[in-house]
Amino acid sequence: MARHPRSQAARCRKPRRERPWPAARVSLALCALALLAGCRQDMHDQPRFKPLAQSDFYADLRSARPPVEGTVARGQLREDSYFYTGMVGDKPGDYMPFPVTREVLDRGRERFDIYCAPCHSRLGDGNGMIPQRGFQRPPSYHTDRLRKAPLGYFFYVMTTGFGAMPDYAQQIEPRDRWAVVAYIRALQLSQNASAADLAGHPVPSPAPRFEEPGSGATLPVEAPQSRERGEDEK
Ligand code: HEC
Repeated sequence: MARHPRSQAARCRKPRRERPWPAARVSLALCALALLAGCRQDMHDQPRFKPLAQSDFYADLRSARPPVEGTVARGQLREDSYFYTGMVGDKPGDYMPFPVTREVLDRGRERFDIYCAPCHSRLGDGNGMIPQRGFQRPPSYHTDRLRKAPLGYFFYVMTTGFGAMPDYAQQIEPRDRWAVVAYIRALQLSQNASAADLAGHPVPSPAPRFEEPGSGATLPVEAPQSRERGEDEK
């Protein structure tokens, strides 16, 4: 009744053969997938120019084409050229492109004290902190030449720079540059007013009264009635 040793061996091997090595098959399939994916062409390989390469197709041999003449980039339509340059033709104009209100002057003073006063000083006399430390000293605004300079000239200097002075076109947007222009004119008047300009107001003007004394870090707040010159005297 003893079993044949071969048939027993065959019985033992049988289940092993049924196992189809799943790990090897899966990795083979993955390799095939990866290789096939590498064969995709689609739009990867199409006729194109490398940036700024030469081209025989166009008469000027440039593959990079300039925009059609008259193209205006979004947000760059500068129809009111005086507002953006301060120039009328090739000469600076002498008018404000919008009315000057108290808000405009306040804004102008704020921008001026930030961007211009470090060199020109808050008074505009050119004795700012930076020239005191060795930078070229700017001219005072309170000279005849700059007092008579048209408004557009100041806008132009801020927009394009002047000699040793860099331009402030990036830091100060156009409307704010005009506010600075208005404030510079007010500064000039403040240093060059005659008694006649005060037209009947008492000289010296009465001292201001304050609602808030200010802390040194904050400015004092003037009481409203003292903003109207001479009102105390009535
Ligand atoms: C870094 C210092 C500096 C700052 C900040 C500066 N300026 Fe000047 N500015 C100068 C110097 C220096 C000159 C004289 C340049 C020269 O003659 O080469 C000058 C000249 C000028 C002039 C006179 C141009 C003339 O005809 O003589 C005007 C106007 C002027 N600046 C306006 C401004 C305004 C407005 C600002 C603020 C937006 C400003 N500057 C900020 C340094 C500065």
